[in-house]
Amino acid sequence: MLTQEEISRLDEILTEHAFDSSAVIAIMQDIQKEYRYLPQEALTYISGKLKLSEAKIYGVATFYENFSLDPKGKYVIKVCDGTACHVRKSIPILEEFRNLLGLSETKHNSDDMLFTLETVSCLGACGLAPVCTVNDKVHAAMTPEKARELIQELREEAAHEN
Ligand code: FES
Repeated sequence: MLTQEEISRLDEILTEHAFDSSAVIAIMQDIQKEYRYLPQEALTYISGKLKLSEAKIYGVATFYENFSLDPKGKYVIKVCDGTACHVRKSIPILEEFRNLLGLSETKHNSDDMLFTLETVSCLGACGLAPVCTVNDKVHAAMTPEKARELIQELREEAAHEN
């Protein structure tokens, strides 16, 4: 159920785009910025307001890789396991992140919703292997040790923001 506050924010986003159904992608991008993913209730709400079917909206959401229908943490860590990174030992780095964050192959979000951990097949920075990104910022030549430092830094950063 959307709260009154959420409905007001969604109305604001829709108003910024003049309730124009052809701007549905931009509207969904703004919603994702707000929530870090696309909540089902928000999509149902805009479907009614834009007079677009939910099927159409879900079609857009699943077509574009950058849209997510699953909740994401504040920090999205992507560990590359493409060939260049794999041979330079990306798996121990992935395992270190999982241990540090209490995650597994099937559990991608930390309980505090601070972190989401994903694997990708190539981040396009093979020369810097092994590589991971945090919210699209590249971290080169990673090691399990650097992974520990990174998590500590991010936890401190998040604590300072609160
Ligand atoms: S294989 Fe990791 S960046 Fe290309």
